[in-house]
Amino acid sequence: MADEPLVLGIETSCDETGVGIVRGTTLLADAVASSVDEHARFGGVVPEVASRAHLEAMVPTIERALKEAGVSAKDLDGIAVTAGPGLAGALLVGVSAAKAYAYALGKPLYGVNHLASHICVDQLEHGPLPEPTMALLVSGGHSSLLLAPDITSDVRPLGATIDDAAGEAFDKIARVLNLGFPGGPVIDRLAKEGDPSAIAFPRGLTGPRDPAYDFSFSGLKTAVARWIEAKRNAGEDVPVRDVAASFQEAVVDVLTRKAIRACKDEGVGHLMIGGGVAANSRLRALAQERCDDAGIVLRVPRPKLCTDNGAMVAALGAEMVKRNRPASAWDLSADSSLPVTDPHVPGVVDEHGDHGHEHGDGGEGHGHDHGDGHGDGRGAHSHGHGHGHDHDHVHELSKDNLYS
Ligand code: KG4
Ligand code: ZN
Repeated sequence: MADEPLVLGIETSCDETGVGIVRGTTLLADAVASSVDEHARFGGVVPEVASRAHLEAMVPTIERALKEAGVSAKDLDGIAVTAGPGLAGALLVGVSAAKAYAYALGKPLYGVNHLASHICVDQLEHGPLPEPTMALLVSGGHSSLLLAPDITSDVRPLGATIDDAAGEAFDKIARVLNLGFPGGPVIDRLAKEGDPSAIAFPRGLTGPRDPAYDFSFSGLKTAVARWIEAKRNAGEDVPVRDVAASFQEAVVDVLTRKAIRACKDEGVGHLMIGGGVAANSRLRALAQERCDDAGIVLRVPRPKLCTDNGAMVAALGAEMVKRNRPASAWDLSADSSLPVTDPHVPGVVDEHGDHGHEHGDGGEGHGHDHGDGHGDGRGAHSHGHGHGHDHDHVHELSKDNLYS
């Protein structure tokens, strides 16, 4: 185990400041500072509040993680950070912090994808991921079915939501029911005391001519809201527990059905479920039941590793080190809409075919010349990728101005 890479991971894509430390697939520390209470009264995450909270929590959370792991920063083999997708300003705090630590300590920097990290985290619980892995990724911002032959370099989307993400649907229904934010955990709790078959809510995109692996939760959301409104207009009490249970059942029924179909169609014998909604107790139970029936091995990390944390970023970073993936260049940018097909952001390859800096070169090496035409404010990932999505891009600190 001692020769496995020791990596610190930083996660700031939303409202959790997460710092995790792993050695290979072994979890050593998982420190999380959440600003969720500061957002609750607004009914959703306020980006500026989240960014400020990350800034305040960053150094103490890193120190707490190092202490918890009982390691010294100088022994790290790399520093990984969520480069996207997520809230632009929030990501920027994590990327800037990771650069500062990596540069000052002379360690390689790995900008990694938040979504791939939600999958890779399962290695900390159940050991190395089978290849390929079928992953159902369900969070507050994403719902996708992904086939990952190699989580560090090859992640293929089979389908995704065409409107709301699964977690977003939980949050919106909780809001209609005046249950506060975030909605997932409280609906999960109330649903345990309700009847999931009390109300027949629609199962989106499950018709014979609908796309097999895409999801839609917006019709369900509207149906639930209308049902509640009708009750209220009639002056009747809303049976909150039955609504929660029936709504939740509609979501997890579709998620598990499509995930298992994808496994069967692709001939993959394992299903991994990741992201905040994977903490849902009914999703976990129904997935287990249906996987058992289909002879598929289910892997879901424990709930604390499903919601946003730094350990998942460290887990993917450690895999990058292990597989000799190139480190990120010092001009690594935060990319709020980084596509799931980019598990990591390697950085600019210069005319010698080298990357901005190398593994274990003491952080100096042959630093990239930032005045050589790369200074277009788009940073590393725009070079050689060409996934022409239109995103609000955040220009980043470079090695040259890091300390100025
Ligand atoms: O992955 P995550 O922590 O952050 C994002 O990357 O979005 O996911 C947050 C989402 C929220 O929408 C939250 O309501 C949902 O995950 N969530 C749950 C549960 N715990 C968190 N949804 C259903 N059941 C839960 N137990
Ligand atoms: Zn997440």
